[in-house]
Amino acid sequence: MTLTVIDVNAQVPYPVVVGNGAVDVLETDTYARFKDRAVVIISNPDVEEQAMHVADRISGRVRALHRLIVPSGEAAKDLEVVARAWEFLASVAIDRSDMLIAVGGGATTDVAGFIASTWMRGVDVVHVPTTTAGMVDAAIGGKTAIDIAAGKNLVGAFHDPRAVICDLNFLGSLPPDEYRSGLAEVVKCGFIGAASILTAIEHDHTALTDHPKDAFISAINLKANVVAVDARENSLGIGRELLNYGHTFGHALETLSQYTLRHGGGVSIGMVFAAEVSHALGHCSSEFVARHRRVLSALGLPISHDVADLNAALEVMMRDKKARAGKLRMILLRGVGDAYSVSDIDESILLAAFNATKRDAVH
Ligand SMILES: NC(=O)c1ccc[n+]([C@@H]2O[C@H](COP(=O)([O-])OP(=O)(O)OC[C@H]3O[C@@H](n4cnc5c(N)ncnc54)[C@H](O)[C@@H]3O)[C@@H](O)[C@H]2O)c1
Repeated sequence: MTLTVIDVNAQVPYPVVVGNGAVDVLETDTYARFKDRAVVIISNPDVEEQAMHVADRISGRVRALHRLIVPSGEAAKDLEVVARAWEFLASVAIDRSDMLIAVGGGATTDVAGFIASTWMRGVDVVHVPTTTAGMVDAAIGGKTAIDIAAGKNLVGAFHDPRAVICDLNFLGSLPPDEYRSGLAEVVKCGFIGAASILTAIEHDHTALTDHPKDAFISAINLKANVVAVDARENSLGIGRELLNYGHTFGHALETLSQYTLRHGGGVSIGMVFAAEVSHALGHCSSEFVARHRRVLSALGLPISHDVADLNAALEVMMRDKKARAGKLRMILLRGVGDAYSVSDIDESILLAAFNATKRDAVH
């Protein structure tokens, strides 16, 4: 078993352990220091097997072991779920020296991270992500969140984990569409700086499904570097916003589809849209746009939308977190790893990109 450890240089640095069987590191205490601690494993019904596996690895090493099950997927990111969790932590007397372990996709690690950040003003949390998106994105970087009626992720806190354990064996039960959706974030890391991901897919399009470890490591390294320099997303430059490549239009598509389009699908189309905008602004070649389409479609990710009217998308895009002073702001690329940001993009440019990414557009 070869494991790779990537250190995230956060305020308190933490390791991301990647590989088949990575969860076995929990037996060594290296990362979590269990002695005399009570531990609560927070998971959801879809990952019962993985949560049991984690429990097996640490039982006998901890003062007390508890399980808390939250709903699967986005339904967990809810204030009532958090309130029930707080009551549970009180009932089993978890204090600040104890620890939570989140086992699940990004929704589970987001809510468990939020619970950890708020319980007694902050307890340790270790993330054990079980989805592609969770491993390369959600579990790393310390952002935690829940949703409210006014929008997704509006309530949250920055709370870095003590460790992130990415056991690739845990992906085995993930439905193929869910797996593929997360790959959009891996490709995004390729375009924003980890070029080897793109060449690996171009060389062999099964690279990310059959032996994803190298690409995951490249994506995690990239995310680790970005969050280390802009932990709180308040950099004067592009900083952590870079990770939002493809997300402006992508989020709008997700919202307009009432979330029938997966996040990764939205990001995939959103990256092609961003490339088209950059091309229409004269900042990247048509070959660079074509490269987006080639790489994403090789993985079976969508590259076109069927939204009828640009204004509907624009309305949602203007509510995007990146819109500043009422102006749409996008992260764009001149080429791989060469990012810039633009505000106040002319509507004719957006329309050109919108039409070029419409289903049935001719290229
Ligand atoms: N904090 C961050 O920086 C950050 C970054 C990106 C995304 N996110 C958040 O992550 C969430 C999306 O995460 P996601 O894409 O991992 O989806 P998810 O957590 O919603 O999981 C998708 C579905 O797959 C199930 N599942 C998870 N692992 C499984 C497995 N191994 N086998 C079988 N089923 C499994 C889940 O229970 C769920 O039903 C969103 O809420 C998003 O806002 C957070």
